[in-house]
Amino acid sequence: MCGIVGYIGKQKASAIILEGLKRLEYRGYDSAGVATLTGSRFDLAKKIGRVAGLIKSTSAQKMPGTTGIGHTRWATHGGVTDANAHPHISSDQKIALIHNGVIENYASIKKFLLTKGYTFQSETDTEVLGNLIAYHYQKEPATSEGSRFVESVRKTLRHVEGTYGIAVMCGDCPAEIVAARKGSPLILGVGDGEYMLASDVSAIISRTQNVVYLKDGEIVHITAKSFSISTLDSEDVSPVIDKVTWRIEDAELGTHAHFMEKEIFEQPAALENSMRGRFSEDGSTAQFGGLNISAVDFRQIDRFHFLACGSAWHACLVAEHLIERFARVPVEVDYASEFRYRNTPLSKNALFFTLSQSGETIDTLAAMREAKRKGYKVLAVNNVVGSSIAREADGGVYQHVGPEIGVASTKAFTSQLLLGAMLALYVGRMRDMSFNDGVDYVHALKGAPDLVRKTLELAPQLKGIAKRYAHYHDFLFLGRLSLFPVALEGALKLKEISYIHAEGYPAAEMKHGPIALISEQCPSVFLVPSGEMFNKVVSSMQEIKARKGKIIAIATEKCDLPAGLADEVILIPECHEAVLPIVATVPVQLLSYYIAVELNRDVDKPRNLAKSVTVE
Ligand code: AGP
Ligand code: GLU
Repeated sequence: MCGIVGYIGKQKASAIILEGLKRLEYRGYDSAGVATLTGSRFDLAKKIGRVAGLIKSTSAQKMPGTTGIGHTRWATHGGVTDANAHPHISSDQKIALIHNGVIENYASIKKFLLTKGYTFQSETDTEVLGNLIAYHYQKEPATSEGSRFVESVRKTLRHVEGTYGIAVMCGDCPAEIVAARKGSPLILGVGDGEYMLASDVSAIISRTQNVVYLKDGEIVHITAKSFSISTLDSEDVSPVIDKVTWRIEDAELGTHAHFMEKEIFEQPAALENSMRGRFSEDGSTAQFGGLNISAVDFRQIDRFHFLACGSAWHACLVAEHLIERFARVPVEVDYASEFRYRNTPLSKNALFFTLSQSGETIDTLAAMREAKRKGYKVLAVNNVVGSSIAREADGGVYQHVGPEIGVASTKAFTSQLLLGAMLALYVGRMRDMSFNDGVDYVHALKGAPDLVRKTLELAPQLKGIAKRYAHYHDFLFLGRLSLFPVALEGALKLKEISYIHAEGYPAAEMKHGPIALISEQCPSVFLVPSGEMFNKVVSSMQEIKARKGKIIAIATEKCDLPAGLADEVILIPECHEAVLPIVATVPVQLLSYYIAVELNRDVDKPRNLAKSVTVE
């Protein structure tokens, strides 16, 4: 939520920052702004709307500074207005600041600052930070300007409750930035004669692959020549510089119309990357390098507890089905946001997993902390290396699918389905699953990328269906067992990017209420597997048909659907139970994508949403 960028170097900061903001825009897009420093003068440009609009109205000549900060906002406090856009400048014109997060005690700080003569131009919580830094700065003893600047930020942050990733400039310190984080992501890019700050790697990858992942409670002081890190308690921190493996092409659109389309079509390769090196030599089970828990201890687990939000929560439901089915270990799945307040009774030998593409979702992070506080181990499935959740987890598995830029999760979701299936195999093989069944399972998982490739060939058919169905206002998505979470995911995708009302239900549950919605005006998307559930799902389809509901059936190839029952039939490859949810997800992704395109929606940046949700 919100993207921040900072630059110190020899180039014009505004151009580099605006380029970085374009890449971070998926994190928030209510407004954008940039400020640079020339001598002691701040040059500021900020406005509501997209970065492209800001670029049009920002002339590089008017912002010659080589030190600067920029922001894309996802509003929490105060409406979407130019005045509320970041950066904010303190009322004494000394401090400029950008902020990602929420300052919970902003009201009392504001009251205090008003008594000290500071004034406010915006309704944001953020503005108190700039003024409070300015207040401490003018009170701070005049040692060197630089250390006075850092100390005033440190003092301010000691008073602040809430979350922040901030980057601050001071008019007295022309080539310096002070930045800090608590609960919001922030990384430092160490380039060739230049430094960058950013909420995530995609903003800086075109300039450097060397990054320092800042930790909560750390403050970094950057000058044109060096940087130093310390804590809120003034302890020095030795920086660790990591090398990023993402390539610049990974964060670019290439020939695709949208990142969502690109990421849907990247899924075969993404699945290959997620499973690479993760099968045992004898080909009968999965292996994970980073679990940090021995096989003997793993064997003692009597319950798995999964925590996640949104699409990742749907992936947990599939993992629940597969682990219970193939490993016979009970699984509990909770919305992360609910878990922290539910105070659920927990079994003694439970093991927790969090699933999160970004690794920054605050609800998931907080739920993880709650489980850890209770003394449980928490393992994390994450895509973003160095993210907060990855760092705080006791161990885990990286997804390795490259950056996911589209706000609607696609390749990260199917990779989570795959890793959940691999976990079911790993635990299953420790228990009752035979060697031969394990070999079959591994063989099936290895075939998943090709089956997804084949399913992607259905894109033109789904495009045609999308054209015929884009004008409907309500949809039901229905599936059973492991395809029920896929139905939920289909409904979420359609809601998110096309703004069409959609609901996902277990197919048979539909008759307990949702059937009242059925009419010629409410189509149903059925996920239909061959095998033992086939006849049951067909009965549900008949019930819809009897009420004149239109039916789009996404069915495996062997399904012998009664003629005329479905209005549209999309045939997907037959596959192993562990792979079916992955393959069945592809058509629901494509259907919602093409419907959103048909409706001319802003697919990659749907209204009101942001890619990683870092507020509670
Ligand atoms: C998915 O399409 C959504 N944008 C959203 O539900 C997302 O899955 C959720 O916010 C969790 O994000 P995370 O995986 O980064 O934790
Ligand atoms: N709370 C701040 C605001 O509403 C920052 C929000 C963000 O992280 O974009 O301006």
